[in-house]
Amino acid sequence: MSHTLTILDVRDRIHQARSVTVLTGAGISADSGVPTFRGTDGLWKNYRAEELASPDAFARDPKLVWEWYNWRRELVATKRPNAAHEALVKLEQRIERFWLITQNVDGLHPLAGSQQLSEIHGNIWKVRCTQCERFWPNRDLPLVYPPICAHCPGLLRPHIVWFGESLAPEDLTRSYQALQDCEILLIIGTSGVVYPAASFAPIAKDGGALVVELNLEPTPNSPVVDLSFHGRAKDLVPLLLQTV
Ligand code: APR
Repeated sequence: MSHTLTILDVRDRIHQARSVTVLTGAGISADSGVPTFRGTDGLWKNYRAEELASPDAFARDPKLVWEWYNWRRELVATKRPNAAHEALVKLEQRIERFWLITQNVDGLHPLAGSQQLSEIHGNIWKVRCTQCERFWPNRDLPLVYPPICAHCPGLLRPHIVWFGESLAPEDLTRSYQALQDCEILLIIGTSGVVYPAASFAPIAKDGGALVVELNLEPTPNSPVVDLSFHGRAKDLVPLLLQTV
């Protein structure tokens, strides 16, 4: 693939495409004011996400983990989708086969109106019982500790895929299908270090897709993709998708 393609060439390719898949990460929500995980503002009380978002951390200190999620829920509750989220909703409406794979758990894509999507890491606005595994939406602010299941004596946890846990099989199947099928894969605002999403670029490339990355800076995906554009998601995505 030639590296002389410009953003206008890619815009034309998207315009003509029948199937487009998009992978997003925390960078798209950064422009709504949600801190990224690996950025300088990503720490909470000096804990890194990896130290809190795990089954071990929850087993050790569920109250601490819920305090962190309460903090994140309060923060996210004040944020709105930005121009990048909105441009993806418009893209979904005009592409025959569209799928959005997001690692974000903040719910800003569905709030913007995205419907064809897999929230592969779950959603901060859902809780799940650690015993009976039922899950449902919950928007309590704050969620009073200890939250107990309505159906059994089990403790509730966030309905999030933590480090060391597997993605829901239906999300994985749908994502792989969308990656293998697409003519174009857009990768927006992800550091590309957390699996399995970190392996999505080569899958789409092997399937023959044009793979385009939009990020503030180079990432481990950059050597794999056909093109990288550097800038803020809220500027680049509407520009690329012709919604400016
Ligand atoms: N526009 C575009 N990209 C941006 C912007 C912006 N305004 N701000 C930051 N970025 C980029 C950063 O350069 C970085 O590459 O977004 C990326 C954010 O990376 P991470 O914080 O690592 O977030 P993400 O890739 O979504 O993390 C993956 O890790 O902690 C887990 O489960 C959590 O889903 C998360 C996963």
